[in-house]
Amino acid sequence: MKELIDDLSILDGAEGCETYQTSKDSNTGKSRKLYIESYGCQMNFSDSEIVASVLQNDGFDTTSDINEADVVFLNTCSIREKAEQTVRNRLNHINGFKKKKPELLVGVLGCMAERLKTKLLEEEKIVDLVAGPDAYRDLPKLIAQVDEGDKAINTFLSREETYADINPVRLNSNGVTAFVSIMRGCDNMCSFCVVPFTRGRERSRDPHSIVAEAKALFDQGYREVTLLGQNVDSYKWSEEENNKARLEKSSVSEVINFANLLERVARIHPDLRIRFSTSHPKDITDEVLFTMAKYENICKNIHLPMQSGNSRVLDLMNRGYSREWYIAKAKRVREILGEDCGISSDMIAGFCTETEEEHQETLSMMREIVYDYAYMFFYSERPGTLAAKKYKDDITEEVKKRRLEEIIALQNEHSTFRNERMVGKVQRVLAEGFSRRSDEFLQGRNTDNKVVVFPKENFKKGQYVNVLIERSTRGTLIGKAVE
Ligand code: SAH
Ligand code: SF4
Ligand code: F3S
Repeated sequence: MKELIDDLSILDGAEGCETYQTSKDSNTGKSRKLYIESYGCQMNFSDSEIVASVLQNDGFDTTSDINEADVVFLNTCSIREKAEQTVRNRLNHINGFKKKKPELLVGVLGCMAERLKTKLLEEEKIVDLVAGPDAYRDLPKLIAQVDEGDKAINTFLSREETYADINPVRLNSNGVTAFVSIMRGCDNMCSFCVVPFTRGRERSRDPHSIVAEAKALFDQGYREVTLLGQNVDSYKWSEEENNKARLEKSSVSEVINFANLLERVARIHPDLRIRFSTSHPKDITDEVLFTMAKYENICKNIHLPMQSGNSRVLDLMNRGYSREWYIAKAKRVREILGEDCGISSDMIAGFCTETEEEHQETLSMMREIVYDYAYMFFYSERPGTLAAKKYKDDITEEVKKRRLEEIIALQNEHSTFRNERMVGKVQRVLAEGFSRRSDEFLQGRNTDNKVVVFPKENFKKGQYVNVLIERSTRGTLIGKAVE
């Protein structure tokens, strides 16, 4: 999967996890049907599950067949120009479809809705409804407005909304792994990035509701949760900040940070695996790393986006760390969690004013760290960001693409190398389902997030299986079950 995604990003510069999902079918006899596609990051996929939940309580079933739908939602991404173009193409296609079915309600949700606000509704007239990431509770009202013949929009960004009390409807679930959103928004202001503008201010979700959701998932048979946020390491929750009324009653002002939260989730059950994404290198603490080391069920894998290997470029990007600082942090990760701990990264080629030597420093930094895998992009200027205002997007597309290809070629070598190291070792794998190629094989991941394929025998998805790794490719480990 990762390999496929990386290959896609080579071909078209698409968002690392950009794909779309259709809703699962729920036929409970409700009066209308919702079809939803998600683009962009895992947060958007997770948000679509909130949207499905809100609408299920408002008389909607979900459908995976767009032809059956009364309402079509695209949950969109703005991270790069290409991501928006993909959605525009899809909207044009759906509008062709709408000509045959004029009563179809078409809505755009997520980051593009937030960024473009009224534009798609009023100027381009290609949608009926626009709802930003913090407006999903308002969807029933917005749909009612459209039913009455109006256009509907809510792009209000909230400082509090975490959808803590909404029980997500698991769309396209394998019944084994699930996302749990723990915080929203981002206060970091990396100069290239549109997310702070589309997702608003950082806010953390009540830890009690997070633990309750993870526990409920475990009780339903799920065996892995991924805690999601734009910057999970800055998770911070206190009664004082988040619930003044309750504080008056209890007068306890406990502050829960990300390490504390990880520990609480890890203690639910040793058979519930925990992953998290994304960590900002500047915020990941030793306390988090030691907590990961302490609990076997917290997976030994960290996504630690580096973006560039040159300190001047990192400074222009407003990342808050230098090359040397990042390298020391990555070494600390492997010191505390062992050499096998997976580290992955995001890289941007051809940021404003990046010289050839500075690009070479990205390559040399990759050689220094040797990532297990990476999402790699060339720089795409986003309107309204600090970089768009302050710096010239002066690297030609040809040079950006050539630099990106060099980064990808090196990463491919490294992914192959990191996978080869696993041959001959026994890995504990959580089976997630059949392999993509054959129903005779199961597929799952080891603790450091590598995909492992092995003969099914009598094993079932949701089980942990010890697999002796016999061969490897760039994207997959292949082996057989052992005692
Ligand atoms: N919060 C996450 C990032 C989400 S965006 C984090 O900080 O890790 C995912 C990745 O997209 C970023 O890490 C970055 O590598 C890439 N990206 C963001 N804006 C971009 C842009 N304008 N052009 C190219 N890539 C970009
Ligand atoms: Fe964007 Fe930086 Fe925030 Fe990540 S940490 S979402 S790259 S501003
Ligand atoms: Fe895209 Fe928004 Fe996620 S811009 S990457 S969908 S936060």
